[in-house]
Amino acid sequence: MRTKSVFAATLAVSMMSAGPVVQAEALDGAALYANPGKGGCTACHGKDAKSPLMNTYPKLAGQNEGYLLQQMKDIQSGARNNGMTAAMKGVMHLVNDEEMAAIAKYLSGLTP
Ligand code: HEC
Repeated sequence: MRTKSVFAATLAVSMMSAGPVVQAEALDGAALYANPGKGGCTACHGKDAKSPLMNTYPKLAGQNEGYLLQQMKDIQSGARNNGMTAAMKGVMHLVNDEEMAAIAKYLSGLTP
């Protein structure tokens, strides 16, 4: 019995110190969006996400969260591919699904 509870306690401790706890921490969408190492989003879409570098680049502030995430995934995977997509696709390997989700949440909360 004692062995069992020690095992249970060890398991609980090792689960706490393993990866999932780190992932459970909310990623900071604002910091990811502004981080050049994560794709330099601000360079093309503007610090406020509504003053893009080019008139042909989209404003992102206040857009639907689900739509933003889906477009990022589609650009990353190549499912979305038009005359403008190549500009952004080049940096999309720098962000993973969780980071894109955090960025989408942040952008959707901005005033359009
Ligand atoms: C080199 C310029 C550039 C960079 C860097 C860039 N983007 Fe883009 N982004 C674009 C362009 C251009 C489009 C339009 C693509 C198209 O028409 O398919 C776009 C499209 C998008 C869209 C879809 C918008 C819509 O209305 O459909 C989202 C969301 C987005 N970018 C987010 C980001 C995020 C987040 C980052 C940083 C990880 C980023 N972009 C980095 C140029 C860029």
